[in-house]
Amino acid sequence: MSELRPRNRPSKAVRRRRTIVVASVVAAVVIIAVVAAVVLLSPQTPAPAPTPTPSRSTPTPTPTPTPTPTPTFDKSANSIDDASSLWVVVNKLRPLNPVDYSPDTVLVPVPYVYEPYLRPEAADAVVQMFAAFTSETGLEMQSQSAYRSYSTQESVYAGWVDSLGQEGADLTSARPGHSEHQTGLAIDINALPDQGCALEPCWGDTPHAQWLAANAYRFGFIVRYPDGKTDITGYEYEPYHMRYVGIELATEMHNTGITTLEEFFGLPPAPDYAG
Ligand code: DAL
Ligand code: ZN
Repeated sequence: MSELRPRNRPSKAVRRRRTIVVASVVAAVVIIAVVAAVVLLSPQTPAPAPTPTPSRSTPTPTPTPTPTPTPTFDKSANSIDDASSLWVVVNKLRPLNPVDYSPDTVLVPVPYVYEPYLRPEAADAVVQMFAAFTSETGLEMQSQSAYRSYSTQESVYAGWVDSLGQEGADLTSARPGHSEHQTGLAIDINALPDQGCALEPCWGDTPHAQWLAANAYRFGFIVRYPDGKTDITGYEYEPYHMRYVGIELATEMHNTGITTLEEFFGLPPAPDYAG
């Protein structure tokens, strides 16, 4: 049978093997080409961004410190009863003791309507406060009235009773022996020059009053008779009446937002006299 095949013509089995080999090679080439195409055409995965290494010049953020509790303010550090204490609380229910108490005072070197005397600590603080006010606002203030003795307060109060009647007078003027002015720690302030509203609630609208309300604590003063506290203090709004209590207490009241001495020290409201 083999003689019947053309010369050199491979046998059928050989041809089949060759066909299989060729087909396998073609298939392999196609597969490789497809795989290569998939790899080349697929989106490139971006290289991961390098993690920044902290440089020596970059400051390390300081961790927020855990707030440490403010030491409790010692409300008993000074007497509120002693007439000579910087914290003495005087109101319609708390007369001075003795009722004719009279402190040592000095003349306060600031412009004035009535010559102003105060206790030395308060006098120094007024001088500093007036200087700061003028340097921060370009405006000026003057003292309207500062220390008043028991007898001076008698005539001041009597004058208000004459003009307003006793009920009206009691809303704006203390009876003798009940006035902070008698402690040598209180001062009524006015604008210089006078621009109206002196010793009246409308003085609260002046830039002077607004600066005092925001800044007096820095010098140890409080606005002693705030707006809306008549039921507690017994007096109408007196934006001009500044009471020296020292920087520590004034700052504590400023920070806590407690605006009256009665509330701060847990004392009963004093809207009226006892008898
Ligand atoms: N004006 C304040 C209340 C006084 O007379 O002491
Ligand atoms: Zn006053």
